[in-house]
Amino acid sequence: MWLKIFGLDKQEIIQLLKTTGEERTALLKRAQEVKVKETGNKVYFRGLVEFSNICAKDCLYCGIRKGNDKVIRYDVSDEEILESCRFAWENRFASVVLQSGELSSPAFIKRVDDLLKKIKQISNGELGITLSCGEQSLETYRRWFESGAHRYLLRIESSNRELYYKIHPENETHSFEKRIEALENLKTAGYQVGTGVMIGLPFQTYEHLADDLLFFQKLDIDMCGMGPYLEHEDTPLYQYRHLLKTKQERFDLALNMIAVLRLLMPDINIAAATALQAIDPAGREKALAIGANVIMPNLTPTAYREEYQLYENKPCLDEDAELCRNCLEARIHMAGSEIGYGEWGDSKHFQSRK
Ligand code: 5AD
Ligand code: FES
Repeated sequence: MWLKIFGLDKQEIIQLLKTTGEERTALLKRAQEVKVKETGNKVYFRGLVEFSNICAKDCLYCGIRKGNDKVIRYDVSDEEILESCRFAWENRFASVVLQSGELSSPAFIKRVDDLLKKIKQISNGELGITLSCGEQSLETYRRWFESGAHRYLLRIESSNRELYYKIHPENETHSFEKRIEALENLKTAGYQVGTGVMIGLPFQTYEHLADDLLFFQKLDIDMCGMGPYLEHEDTPLYQYRHLLKTKQERFDLALNMIAVLRLLMPDINIAAATALQAIDPAGREKALAIGANVIMPNLTPTAYREEYQLYENKPCLDEDAELCRNCLEARIHMAGSEIGYGEWGDSKHFQSRK
């Protein structure tokens, strides 16, 4: 049954997500074969710059939520952001991800817009730019696209409305419908769209996770990033930690999710989420060996990293970009993959749709 690709139904997906032992080994192996066949054996780097932790939202799981007053808020200066992007370009990363808390003030929108133009300028237009700056209007998405962004990451977090409101307060700023609409607007604006969910949330069932995978398929996404949920002491969801699976179980389930998604959507880009590494030091490499093909080395200037802890045990807090790159390069080679230096590494799925 697990050799099938594309047309898995919900019950089959649930069964696959639950596999253990030899069947699981076969699933993970199959996912890797499908990846290599459909996308090649290259891993693409996206240099991640977490340029601001100021956020207008209050997601119940997130360490940088507005209501967490223990966090020291920062804005990385434009000069430092450009320096990180220059590092990415000079090291032939080919692409960067600008990520921040969610703001939608005119000043923020303009700031991102100006940054996009400058990044294009300093890299002769060569550096690809992904944004991960939350829900914005279609107009803003269009404006940023015109200024040079071409991919956008916006996780749905959970595609189940009820679960969505267990992990977000139900109000105007955290509307499930608006989030779906934002994903549709991103497609309309022309982006390669990436979404994803957290795995192992309190109240989350296998059925929810199977529906998440079917949701990705229905939305026809180009990219996906999903990782284990990690409890954070200074967030409201922490009170439900007694409901959680063990960290190892969440980790294993996250790998199963990646593998099943690879069978369902063979030619998309799947990221090896940083949260995997918060549980297992080799977590991201393990994901790259079972279906993932993108990794996001952290290029945030080291001084700010301490304050961008969405979850506890976030790795690489005190390593600089150079160290991260060297360490990753060695690990990826050890895992038997090549690094797609100098290539944008667009998802084959997106290319074939064009
Ligand atoms: N555990 C795991 N992932 C988290 N994120 C935010 N908080 C947590 C947490 N406590 C993820 C969300 C968000 C992404 C940037 O980080 O899925 O979309
Ligand atoms: Fe910032 Fe969720 S807490 S977007």
